[in-house]
Amino acid sequence: MTHRDDPITPGDAPRGASQDAIEALSREDRTFPPPPGFADQANVRDPDVYERAAADPEGYWAKAARSLDWYRPWDTVLSWDPPNARWFDGGQLNVSVNCLDRHVASGHGDKVAYYWEGEPGDRTRITYAELLAEVCRCANALRGLGVGRGDKVAVYMPMILEMPIAMLACTRIGAVHTVVFGGFSAESLRDRINDAGAKLVVTADGGYRRGKPSALKVNVDDAIADGQAPSVERVLVARRTGQDVTMVEGRDIWWDEVVPRQAPECEPERMESEDPLYLLYTSGTTAKPKGIVHTTAGYLLGAAHTHRTVFDIKDDDVYWCAADIGWVTGHSYILYGPLANRTTGVMYEGTPDFPAPDRWWDIVERYRVSVLYTAPTAIRAHMKWGPQHAAGHDLSSLRLLGSVGEPINPEAWVWYHHHIGGDRCPVVDTWWQTETGAIMIAPLPGLTTTKPGSASRPLPGIEADIVDGDGNPVPPGSGGYLVVKGPWPAMLRGIHGDPERFQKTYWDRFPGTYFPGDGARRDEDGDYWLMGRVDDVMNISGHRLSTTEIESALVSHQSVAEAAVVGTPDDLTGEAIAAFVILKLGTEPSVAFGDELRQHVAAKIGPIAKPKTLLFTPDLPKTRSGKIMRRLLRDIAAGRSLGDTTTLADADVVETIRDASRAGRDEE
Ligand code: WT7
Repeated sequence: MTHRDDPITPGDAPRGASQDAIEALSREDRTFPPPPGFADQANVRDPDVYERAAADPEGYWAKAARSLDWYRPWDTVLSWDPPNARWFDGGQLNVSVNCLDRHVASGHGDKVAYYWEGEPGDRTRITYAELLAEVCRCANALRGLGVGRGDKVAVYMPMILEMPIAMLACTRIGAVHTVVFGGFSAESLRDRINDAGAKLVVTADGGYRRGKPSALKVNVDDAIADGQAPSVERVLVARRTGQDVTMVEGRDIWWDEVVPRQAPECEPERMESEDPLYLLYTSGTTAKPKGIVHTTAGYLLGAAHTHRTVFDIKDDDVYWCAADIGWVTGHSYILYGPLANRTTGVMYEGTPDFPAPDRWWDIVERYRVSVLYTAPTAIRAHMKWGPQHAAGHDLSSLRLLGSVGEPINPEAWVWYHHHIGGDRCPVVDTWWQTETGAIMIAPLPGLTTTKPGSASRPLPGIEADIVDGDGNPVPPGSGGYLVVKGPWPAMLRGIHGDPERFQKTYWDRFPGTYFPGDGARRDEDGDYWLMGRVDDVMNISGHRLSTTEIESALVSHQSVAEAAVVGTPDDLTGEAIAAFVILKLGTEPSVAFGDELRQHVAAKIGPIAKPKTLLFTPDLPKTRSGKIMRRLLRDIAAGRSLGDTTTLADADVVETIRDASRAGRDEE
């Protein structure tokens, strides 16, 4: 069993923005067949692809894998001993060679790999040949700093070109990168560095956010000061903002002092298919983030294949995934998938509304972006700012739109389709996770008739289902737990250093079957409607946060006795964080103290983890076995508009909590 204190039963009301989607389910009867012009030219046109792949998934993936460049072909497509999968054993390849060298060798060195748009208005572009040379220089520099095959490298960077360069350089020499999102605190960074055992940290002096420099290097200094991250030997620092930083003699080295003078060629390592490619930390149901392990061949195949099929990528596309590379979306769909497919991409450092709310549409127009991939929370922000910002730009280059990160409410889907896609672009809602490595459930845009709010169905080669609590498939029209029944190439290979947690988190709930932690409903046509998480994981603006992690951060404050955190529906961010806090005797609740607590959480985890609502309460409702009744707290938080600020011991709320606490009843 998983460690949930309040399992939803199939048919339960889901949480977050998904509420909208489910309510709309009954009235959502709009359907969008592929536009004829689109269907005619699509990469995937044969409707039998689903059946063929289901009849022989290994054959399906093996065929796809032939489009990669191998030093040595594999001996075995798959060995599957649940939960352990090995794909393409015996095969040897290098990811950076697949992303760069082979494109240059086939005469595409002058093709633009990235148009880069910096926040204060800087612009540059880099071709495949230039990117290859930079990656080689960086790889040589890493080797010179003592990094080799199997070593871990932490990457804590803003969205500048040095970030993908550093990641690809790691893949060239067989080092394992672990990217830590630049919005995470020094403490979060330290935990990840220590769990991974990173030998080197690549960072920058700072990055730009809303026109102002933000600090990164100083967080690295904090994270590793006083021997708190003993594995770190060196820190490589790219120059972005020019702000003052302290360089520690013998430990820290400037990128521009070491990388440019390296040779632009670097012999790549021949990696085994199952060699680890990277770790990426994500929140689970406990306070400790999990280091998700992805390996070389299967991951690259999953990212590249889904990028080509779901986004219908062609050689002349200009593709923009507006995520941060610090999250898995950026790993798979800014870096590895697009580069493996020799795609021209846009990489943007900043926020959607700086300096003005039309910033994105200006970028789409300038680079003639044809495929755009973003999150529902961003679409809802654009809805709020109004369609006039998009209308003021020529968006006629767009031909396909993607969505990821959380259930998309039909209103946002339809707005995106109409105001951004000009009613002519298929919208692909893509369900996947850090753990799945690549898209799992999504339309195939040349084949699928889409419905606003539904991610459609599992892709060819993916065997998913929706089951009840006993693992039996639910009938059409019912809800239950999403599961993935067979192995897939890009699946996680484990949690770094914790095989037991791997087994327990994903494989024990339905033995031998992967349990992602999401609820879903299947309609009469067999289409899937994702309903949000069924565990203690929240989804804030498409970012995964753990209730327990934030509770730990709160109780680490000296004045906090106890805390409970729940997610509550939010029009903009999907879910928002609500915290219920019991203070120790001697501390009085106040708005100022609420702000102090929020700051404390930001320092512990990062600003994205700050509770939106903070409620001081003398009690927390608990079951007889002492577990916090989160469902009740969710109802309280959702049922009242607690507003943006600290609510001080609201009499009614406290009364409800007190009653429940006295009753001490068990949740069924
Ligand atoms: C969780 C994974 C995958 C990259 C971004 C988030 C939710 C993601 C969808 C979608 C409904 C979605 C799920 C999932 N989710 N995409 N299209 N429809 N829900 O990656 O941080 O690993 O979070 O995000 O709940 O489990 P992540």
